[in-house]
Amino acid sequence: CGIVAYIGEKEAQPILLEGLKRLEYRGYDSAGVSLLVSKSFRIRKTTGRITALEAEIGKETRHESLGIGHTRWATHGKPTTANAHPHTDCSGKICLVHNGIIENYATLKKWLESKGCTFASETDTEVIANLIGYFYSSENGDGDAEREGINKFEWAVQQALRELVGTYGLAILCSDFPDMLIGAKKGSPLILGVGENEYIVASDAAAIVEHTTQAIYLSDNEIVTIKGNTFRTKTIDNITVSKKLSELEFSLGEIALEGYEHYMQKEIAEQVDALSTCMNGRIDLAGSRVVLGGLSNYLRDLARVKRIILTGCGTAWHAGLIGEYLFEQLARIPAEVEYASEFRYRNPIIEDGTIVIAISQSGETADTLAAIEQAKDRGAPVFGLVNVVGSTIARTTDAGVYLRVGPEIGVASTKAFTAQVTVLTMLAIELGRRRHLSQSDAHGLLEDMLNLPEKIAKALKLSEEIKRIAKANIDQPNWLFLGRGLNYPVGLEGALKLKEISYIHAEGLPAAEMKHGPIALISEGMPAVFVATQSSNYDKIIGNIEEVRARGGRTIVIASEGDEQIADYADHLIKVPEVREPLQPVVNVIPLQLLAYHAAVLKDYDVDKPRNLAKSVTVE
Ligand code: G6P
Repeated sequence: CGIVAYIGEKEAQPILLEGLKRLEYRGYDSAGVSLLVSKSFRIRKTTGRITALEAEIGKETRHESLGIGHTRWATHGKPTTANAHPHTDCSGKICLVHNGIIENYATLKKWLESKGCTFASETDTEVIANLIGYFYSSENGDGDAEREGINKFEWAVQQALRELVGTYGLAILCSDFPDMLIGAKKGSPLILGVGENEYIVASDAAAIVEHTTQAIYLSDNEIVTIKGNTFRTKTIDNITVSKKLSELEFSLGEIALEGYEHYMQKEIAEQVDALSTCMNGRIDLAGSRVVLGGLSNYLRDLARVKRIILTGCGTAWHAGLIGEYLFEQLARIPAEVEYASEFRYRNPIIEDGTIVIAISQSGETADTLAAIEQAKDRGAPVFGLVNVVGSTIARTTDAGVYLRVGPEIGVASTKAFTAQVTVLTMLAIELGRRRHLSQSDAHGLLEDMLNLPEKIAKALKLSEEIKRIAKANIDQPNWLFLGRGLNYPVGLEGALKLKEISYIHAEGLPAAEMKHGPIALISEGMPAVFVATQSSNYDKIIGNIEEVRARGGRTIVIASEGDEQIADYADHLIKVPEVREPLQPVVNVIPLQLLAYHAAVLKDYDVDKPRNLAKSVTVE
């Protein structure tokens, strides 16, 4: 979910709506705004996108300069108008928006009901509003607040937050305090943008940068109270904390469509430059080494590493699987990739010499964060491979490497994936150099890496051809994506892209596993996408292609440019530029991204905001 709140001198409503649009990638099943209008709340909410909310609001212009807004990705309760935020308490004095999950909400709800509260939604959020309202209306509140040197609104927020188990980013209003906005954070991101005579509280920088680039990142269990033109930060235990201003590194130009029809299309195309930027200054070709500045204080840990655990979710996990193969192949270090959501609950064994690498585009994924905490508790050094500068994962890991690909807006990850793989490849080469990888092998790989942008540019030219292939197969309801070795994770990523945005059922598999079950699925005309570029497994995968053809499957084969033999095996052939085998995944994934993109466009689906998904999942 995304939250945004405004307090200042301007009209809040347009600023909230604009901010919500920028946060829409965080969830978009319902939305709402609330303004404080002469001691009561004017709330407008609706299911669907921000444009639906705008339509709901219509021409109702308002001049108030204090308000809160929310765009939702449903967790507790269906995406209905009643469940959309903002929520008020039953007295109508407290109004808030929330990102996160309150785990003890059922117990609190029962307790509040026993105290006479009534609830209008199925959300956990309404429990927070009512809990604050409960403390706010308590008789001893005034006295206690005065003793603590705070006002009753702040006091009630502190009391309520101490009762919550779970995560929250909150923006809260109280109708008795028409010049006050409170923000609070635990586990979900929250930033305070500090402008000239105005403040914006938001889930991320995208909703802030239009107004100011000066910001404060709240830490867990911190509350910010903004009153008029000043603000102060305290913990939920009322201890004052001083925060330093940071400069947000984010420009609005980066989030414009610039003539492209979709962000995903733009981000696929951007991979040429994005990978150059990602590698810039990090490859020392003359020395055949890689220089990753963010890890420079941990070179000793890296030199003695005995085992690497990679963790992440979704696409980041796929990049991690490629990393697993590369660390073993190039550096001969045992490596394994773990789904963050599984890792955290399996009582992982972390011995001396184990390092953990957390991979995340957004740097906010709750499951990945929880896995990091788990690893840190067990004493492992944790490094982050993160795109969003200043994000929670970037700040909670011991050190890390930024992906440097700029904002990724399309929900289906593309440029972040290729950059994650690129950074993992650089790291594997560097760790290899510290062990067995020869200077000449490293040199060859690094030289080839520098050519990747050019190879990607070439692969992008396949777009029209791939569109034709998508068109010819668009009516097929089930697809397989098959590869071996490093091309197996590439296949997984291709399948994920297709299902995410075109809602076509797709499965990725190691090609040889097919005969142990999935081959039963093959029927006349069923598309099987083989990632079959030159590799040590090449002959084997040809055998797998034959197995599919023999059963009537339709083969879409991604092969190396120089491969003259493979045409006989392919119903559709896509030839990609060749690079050294360990680098091939970055090139091979391009046609698969394009395939999913064209399929979704042909089906007329919302490419950048596929149903049921969110770009940044800040709940576990
Ligand atoms: C969500 C997105 C996926 C993404 C995953 C991990 O599920 O829909 O596209 O791969 O989160 O996100 P992260 O920001 O941690 O890379």
